[in-house]
Amino acid sequence: MQGKPMDLQGIQEQIEHLRKELEEHNYRYYVLDTPVISDTVFDEKLKELEKLEQEYPQFQTDNSPTKRVGGTVTKDFPTVKHRFPMLSLSNSYSEEEIQEWIDRVQKAVGEVVTFVCELKYDGVAIGIRYVNGQLVQAITRGDGSQGEEVTENVRTIRTIPLTLKGDDYPEDFEIRGEIFLPLARFQALNDAREAAGEERYMNPRNTASGTLKLQDSSIVSERMLDCILYGIYSNEDLPQSHFEKVVKAQAWGFKTPSVDQRFIERCQGKEQILDFIHHWDTERTQLPFEIDGVVIKVDNETQQVELGSTAKSPRWAIAYKFKAEQAVTRLERVTYQVGRTGAITPVANLDPVLLAGTIVKRASLHNADQIEKLDLHIEDQVYVEKGGEIIPKITGVDMDNRPLGAQAVQFIQNCPECNTPLVRTEGEAQHYCPNRAGCPPQIKGAIEHFISRRAMDIEGMGPETIELLYRQGLIHDIADLYTLSYDDLIGLERLADKSVKNLLAGVEKSKQVPFERVLFGLGIRHVGETVAKRLAKHFKSMDALMMADKEALLQVDIIGEVIAASLMHYFEEAANREMVQRLMTYGLQTEVEAADGPHSDRLEGKKFVVSGVFHTFSRDELKATIESHGGINVSSISKKTDYVVAGDNMGPSKSEKAERLGIPIISEEEFKQLIA
Ligand code: IVH
Repeated sequence: MQGKPMDLQGIQEQIEHLRKELEEHNYRYYVLDTPVISDTVFDEKLKELEKLEQEYPQFQTDNSPTKRVGGTVTKDFPTVKHRFPMLSLSNSYSEEEIQEWIDRVQKAVGEVVTFVCELKYDGVAIGIRYVNGQLVQAITRGDGSQGEEVTENVRTIRTIPLTLKGDDYPEDFEIRGEIFLPLARFQALNDAREAAGEERYMNPRNTASGTLKLQDSSIVSERMLDCILYGIYSNEDLPQSHFEKVVKAQAWGFKTPSVDQRFIERCQGKEQILDFIHHWDTERTQLPFEIDGVVIKVDNETQQVELGSTAKSPRWAIAYKFKAEQAVTRLERVTYQVGRTGAITPVANLDPVLLAGTIVKRASLHNADQIEKLDLHIEDQVYVEKGGEIIPKITGVDMDNRPLGAQAVQFIQNCPECNTPLVRTEGEAQHYCPNRAGCPPQIKGAIEHFISRRAMDIEGMGPETIELLYRQGLIHDIADLYTLSYDDLIGLERLADKSVKNLLAGVEKSKQVPFERVLFGLGIRHVGETVAKRLAKHFKSMDALMMADKEALLQVDIIGEVIAASLMHYFEEAANREMVQRLMTYGLQTEVEAADGPHSDRLEGKKFVVSGVFHTFSRDELKATIESHGGINVSSISKKTDYVVAGDNMGPSKSEKAERLGIPIISEEEFKQLIA
């Protein structure tokens, strides 16, 4: 009995130590971008903490790093009143307006005014309250006087500290900033959605806003939102200067606008302000996230108070909005594309026009609703803009210039490829061609998806080969790939001895690809990589999955009604069952492998940059191998890099940099010796 309280105290200390350590690594990885331990080691420590918290629930807290992966489901987000009103900014669109604002401010203050210029992040405003260094609440802007509480979802954002560093933060304060989805994450999310047969999202801002209100915080966690914080509100003492407050907040562990990258700058007068604006008007395309302008603020708080606010916005700040790059051109006609999953995408064919340095001839129209909303007619003069996506979009119609008798665009009713009547499920924006097994682009698309890198990764094969084999009648579905023989292929267009052998070897090698990727490769709607992984882990074999009823499917944490229905529908079709059976007969992996690959600590703590193309590894495999031996993957070469593993076609700038810094460049073979 006597020793027990001591033990418990020891455990509590161990838990607290782990939490602190994990938050520090989290900070180094996500905020500073300079990790010091590998992902594997981080995951091990996190697992250790999870285990302790489960065993000793009395030590659970809301701000444990284990909460970053989500797991809670919030049904309603309660409405909460803001303690400090959340105002918006008045907008300006010209340099004259900026000059007028500066003049007004100078006149009202009557003394020297220092300004601070910042980027205007295009995301969702958030206010986060910290009490005694602990995150306690996060509220959206809402109508400015009250917003929705989204605390659990905000806890999953890795760049937002759960517990603050240092000791000079106010006991109770609120920090405000912008939550956004970085462009690379937005692209990846959309690619994954497309691979799972889901609609692409329109833009990063709406996606960030929708993500923040998702009920399941584990999905929020996977989306990898980011947040930059730029405003501190407290009744306690803080620096008088806005700029200095931001610098302070950085020391407490927040991701604040970077001074080095000119995301924030102190300016004296118009010249410097305009220089900041001009710089970002051109440089914004290089940023990894979207901005829609620049914000100019009065730095000194006494002066801010003197200037005051209107009901809607402060007089001490103004936004300068960039002009969206826009062009006007004529809509010639609308054509329709059939995607891999049968989704129909209308495409506007335009008179060629120059937009942001490139000639644009086509723009996506997304779906039938979009066409209706634009009230689009053939021959219309349309406005074309470039947003976060590479594909330009039509944002409006010049109604005054519509030619007499112009025809309204009518959405097609039959598939342009196979003439099957299209369907549109209630609640979905997109039309589909339901003829999966007989519609050529769907058949070819399904095979392309199956052989793709993230699925079966079949080398020596690409869209042209698939087109060729399909035209020759050699493949009608993915299982047919495993029946191809040398004699079938030799002598076909562009297929000489070497390429045929290559292709067949690629097909053969794919039989070793793990079950989860086979499952992803099937291209079942809504079954993307993440879902496939969880299904494989849960059911362990294709047989078990095929036998699962709806109830059994819903047992898997991330499977909801939509995914369950899609799986049921897929496996109910005899043709699909037969095809999957054939895949099993041909020897593909349809069970989870027992053990993982080799592990060691040979590369413990060593930092690797991987560059180029490799022969025996894919890049992802090579990175996974580095991690499984304790190494750390970093994306760019610096003094701290230990090795550069160079494959074919490594860029000259990388090798120059490595040489300049004296970092060893090793080949694939040398790398293998390191872990041998
Ligand atoms: S300051 C009282 N600074 O723009 C001033 N806002 O219309 C409060 N925004 O709701 C805002 N970047 O979501 C400020 N560097 C920045 C900003 C910024 C983006 C957003 C914010 C706000 C909206 C104002």
